[in-house]
Amino acid sequence: MLSTTNVGVQNSGTQYLPSGDENPSPNQQLLPLTARVNNRDSLEIGGCDVTTLVQQFGSPLYIVDEETLRAACRQYRDAFTRYYSGESQVLYASKAWSCLAVCAIARQEGLGIDVVSGGELYTAVNAGVSPDKIYFHGNNKSRQELQMAVETGCTIVVDNWLELQTLAEMTQDNSNKPTRIMLRVTPGIECHTHEYIRTGHLDSKFGFDPNQLEEVFAYLSKHTFLNCIGLHAHIGSQIFERQPHQDLGGVMVDWLAKAATYGLTCSELNIGGGLGIRYTESDDPPSIDEWVKVVSESVANACQARQIDLPKLLSEPGRSLVGTACVTAYTIGSQKVIPEMRTYLAIDGGMSDNPRPITYGSVYRTVVANRMSAPLTETVTIAGKHCESGDILIKNATLPKTEPGDTLVVMATGAYNYSMASNYNRLPRPAAVLVSNGEPNLILQRETYQDLIRQDRLPERLI
Ligand code: LLP
Repeated sequence: MLSTTNVGVQNSGTQYLPSGDENPSPNQQLLPLTARVNNRDSLEIGGCDVTTLVQQFGSPLYIVDEETLRAACRQYRDAFTRYYSGESQVLYASKAWSCLAVCAIARQEGLGIDVVSGGELYTAVNAGVSPDKIYFHGNNKSRQELQMAVETGCTIVVDNWLELQTLAEMTQDNSNKPTRIMLRVTPGIECHTHEYIRTGHLDSKFGFDPNQLEEVFAYLSKHTFLNCIGLHAHIGSQIFERQPHQDLGGVMVDWLAKAATYGLTCSELNIGGGLGIRYTESDDPPSIDEWVKVVSESVANACQARQIDLPKLLSEPGRSLVGTACVTAYTIGSQKVIPEMRTYLAIDGGMSDNPRPITYGSVYRTVVANRMSAPLTETVTIAGKHCESGDILIKNATLPKTEPGDTLVVMATGAYNYSMASNYNRLPRPAAVLVSNGEPNLILQRETYQDLIRQDRLPERLI
């Protein structure tokens, strides 16, 4: 029987197995919480052998561990109950991975959903999420999306003047049923993450600038059919620091106090998402529990200092809920050895199923699922199959010796992989399976070639 812990094993894929702590924070692991090595030296997730899953469902394959996703949802929920004495609500930022099954799990765990488009709203509603737990964000919602949001009855997080005025015009006759809105504020808080995923600094395309806010409050005090229930801010993503969220509490509570002077009862405060996850051994994010403690205490202390009631505290994590729950399994194919330079090992997917390395320079770790204990003797660069030199998933990965047909698993791919996937080079997007207690359930069917041409139209004269 092979070891299922990482103690003393530093030379194989087993080093990435979960820590064995009693209640590990999913965002601090590399592999899902149920990851084990079975007696075939194969990686098992949710009680399913990963190589068998690939035989059954093909590759590339997103494999989602239900237990890890649910554990993350529960840890957020329980931590707010522990550290925040007011009401709280965790919303799943569905942009991280929007599909029916993932939204339904979030719903079952008592979470609400944050959506940023008509498509995400449609998905959340169809996953059975109650509109009073849906919050609609976005810096340029179309009229049609706003109409859809109003009709659905979700809360609209208003981002700018145009949107506010459009909504006012759209809903002025609904004064018997005021539309619930929140205001997104640019809080002017810097954090150290990739510039593309930073949003809280003043030079950001999102939200009202602080110096516009009083004018907005004054406007809302005269347009009471828009029911402004609170304020929102999100400062960025993949954040490991504690300080920015600590500062955010004080800044936002100040604005709540200011809104009250305009007669607005803003009883909800949404402090966004942003908690980072571990993609490599050197990543050291705070645990979910610690992050919740920081934001809860910061808001509670700020309220106490200003003598105002605790707002209902909302947060909207995405990456730290779903990121570690998923791995992507690929089949290893061709190899190109350039002597004294580099060995490229190609897999059957790439930038179309995981655009994060080429977009943000993101770094991932990998294991060979059917050789979990083999010694790591090779240094190779994992190349995707797209016609693009930059389509490299991992530079200088250390792997055991592999053969074509082996199963390569890239870890922590749950967040912003499927949701940003494309059909570049007309590759069908992968299937996804949800695994739990040895049972795989298909949650996304693999696209087919017919799917790829479904929206194509061939004008008569080209036939
Ligand atoms: N709330 C708002 C308003 C957001 O814009 C985001 C993420 C979240 C919540 C969730 O943040 P999280 O907890 O996932 O950090 N595509 C990029 C990430 C973009 C994040 C966009 N906004 C990536 O792959 O790293």
